[in-house]
Amino acid sequence: MDYVTLGRGGPRVSAVGLGMWQAGGKNWGKDVRDADCRKAMARAVELGINLVDTAEVYGDGHSEEVVGAAIRDVGRDNVFLATKVSGDHLRADDVGKACRGSLRRLGVRELDLYQVHWLALWDQVPLRETMKALERLEREGKIRHIGVSNFAAHDLEEARSHLSRTDILSNQVQYSLVHREIEAVTLPYCQREGIGVLAWSPMGRGVLTGKYHASRRPKDSIRSDDSLFKPGNLRALRPLVSALRRTGEAHGRTPAQVAVAWTRHRAGVVPIPGAKRPAQAEEHAGAAGWSLTGVEKRLLDRLSGSLRLDTF
Ligand SMILES: NC(=O)c1ccc[n+]([C@@H]2O[C@H](COP(=O)([O-])OP(=O)(O)OC[C@H]3O[C@@H](n4cnc5c(N)ncnc54)[C@H](OP(=O)(O)O)[C@@H]3O)[C@@H](O)[C@H]2O)c1
Repeated sequence: MDYVTLGRGGPRVSAVGLGMWQAGGKNWGKDVRDADCRKAMARAVELGINLVDTAEVYGDGHSEEVVGAAIRDVGRDNVFLATKVSGDHLRADDVGKACRGSLRRLGVRELDLYQVHWLALWDQVPLRETMKALERLEREGKIRHIGVSNFAAHDLEEARSHLSRTDILSNQVQYSLVHREIEAVTLPYCQREGIGVLAWSPMGRGVLTGKYHASRRPKDSIRSDDSLFKPGNLRALRPLVSALRRTGEAHGRTPAQVAVAWTRHRAGVVPIPGAKRPAQAEEHAGAAGWSLTGVEKRLLDRLSGSLRLDTF
């Protein structure tokens, strides 16, 4: 496994992390089982993946419980543990309470990275209040680093202006060959300012793995309404998926591994692909340790850049 520095002067983490939303339960499909998710995380750590991402909202805390069980299997020191406070819990008192809940479910004394999952849109909690509460947790030794998720550059600017002791380590955002919106402003801002980027859904929730087509679409509640899996979009994605397959063959890798590797080739970006079982985690580990050629990157860039997907 390769290791990279997350954010400027930040901790060393594996070049590919592991997303554990899947451990939240059956929302990701009938085939999700706690034992498999726990083993997936153990296998990932065995192969050198140390960055593991979860959130209090995933399965209403269940993902954190499964991750906590896996931590007991693999050892606390072998995991860079990232979780998130829900955008509904951003009042100062709620941030403290949410953190205590996550620590309890995860069975740890300190979180390595505590991220604001999303900005409070409806109740307009002042960002200052949330950031001060996070800084208090850092001062108390309950969290080592402060992170955010789904923040635009101007949100990052404001959030950082409220921190006096520390800076934001990372911004977790959607990034893949089918979602490149961050390339316009957010990614350049993070690269310039030394804020790490954790790429969520690096396989486009599985659409880039090549296993889904018009007659085989995911039926779980998370993806059945996702426009990416509309039959017309699955058809439009065929040239890109074929290129992922051909590129993978040249390196002895799968399309999923090429899709994850493509995100990893952007400076400062660490993908966190999700896994339901050990075999998927094993594939994620194999998305690191090798490189796409310039020609391959340009081909994938061009095919993804010319996609016209129906997102409505
Ligand atoms: N911050 C946020 O707002 C936010 C939002 C979304 C996700 N996340 C985080 O990012 C992580 C990853 O994102 P994601 O789970 O949405 O999308 P993803 O990683 O792009 O896709 C995950 C899905 O792909 C399939 N898969 C995994 N490995 C595979 C392989 N080797 N071959 C074929 N299919 C494979 C699995 O589903 P099937 O086998 O059923 O196809 C899995 O559930 C999450 O676990 C979570 O930690 C964060």
